[in-house]
Amino acid sequence: MDRRQLLRRSALAMSAFAFSRDSFAEAMAGMPVSQSAPGPQIRLGSNENPHGPSPMARAAMMEAVAISNRYQWDMNGVLRERIAGLTGHTKEHITLGAGSSELLGLACLWATRGKGNLVASEPTFKLWMPAARRMGMATKLVPLTTTKHNDLQRIMDTIDADTRMVYLCNPNNPTGTTATKTDMETFVQKLGPDRVLLLDEAYTEYYDSPSMSHLVDKYPNLIIAKTFSKVYGMAGARVGYALAQPGTIKQMNEFQAWANAGPSAVSMVGAMAAMKDLDFVGLVKQQNKLAKDVLYKAFDKAGIPYIPSVTSFVYFDNKPYAKRIPELLAGANIIGARSFEQDSTWLRLSIGTVPEMQQVASLL
Ligand SMILES: Cc1ncc(COP(=O)(O)O)c(C=O)c1O
Repeated sequence: MDRRQLLRRSALAMSAFAFSRDSFAEAMAGMPVSQSAPGPQIRLGSNENPHGPSPMARAAMMEAVAISNRYQWDMNGVLRERIAGLTGHTKEHITLGAGSSELLGLACLWATRGKGNLVASEPTFKLWMPAARRMGMATKLVPLTTTKHNDLQRIMDTIDADTRMVYLCNPNNPTGTTATKTDMETFVQKLGPDRVLLLDEAYTEYYDSPSMSHLVDKYPNLIIAKTFSKVYGMAGARVGYALAQPGTIKQMNEFQAWANAGPSAVSMVGAMAAMKDLDFVGLVKQQNKLAKDVLYKAFDKAGIPYIPSVTSFVYFDNKPYAKRIPELLAGANIIGARSFEQDSTWLRLSIGTVPEMQQVASLL
């Protein structure tokens, strides 16, 4: 592909992303099912961290407002270096995005340049997929196993000669299930060097089995997407990154719309502070676990089946319960229980604070 074609394709991709951004924002803004109850809303629909940003990130961002009149070009390199320090890589292994969803789109655009299809689970995190479809890329979706895990074998069997990329969300959103490290490595290995594995690790910090980042130098086809939106509590600040071999990062960056795009200086300063605030991360994990236990107990008591989750959300089956849980919760201004599978009674609810989950429990 020559440079003009590449730029045309990038521009097209960007307009696809921009379109989906506007329509997505409108859809999410309209998400509350009901506003009938008085008082503040409890938002349990987007796996946001109810505790964040961390005190250190808050203070750093407030201070950084003073320098936000200037372009902070050097900060991009500094943040990439700090992240590389976390994962034991170099800054050339890292590219930043305004949230990891931007980079999921970018990786997909790069991996499927020319033509081809991508394979992913159903349901999974699909926010970036409409853009891929508008770019003319076929998407082959593979059902989860009966235990709601990514079906690695079936995904492998679905790959054909045109497959350029496999997207795996591990742990998976919306189900909160995870594959073992060994199964994941076997999967990358079997995929071979000609197909990209885009591994979305938005939630690995919530549990104790770490990221697969140590495999990046071994497998040139592995791209890992990570975010500051979840355990670090910075969803609105928009900072994410992709980790891959330097050659891949360099090629992916060719598809970025503009050098100045990406996270703001204020957000990057916040991310650097957030990485240092280990006490806050510890607190978030501990509170998430306690709040999840409150929900599990309420589900057990009400006879509602659920999948034990390693993340900050829980997938459950409304079927045996007499009332529709989204409406029941929305009546008390608790919004966000929603469906991710067609004609299914399974729903996802994000984990809020312990008192918020106690409110959910008392309603159930
Ligand atoms: C699995 C997964 N990946 C990526 C994202 C997007 O995160 P970001 O805010 O970094 O764009 C989310 C957000 O909910 C997610 O659940």
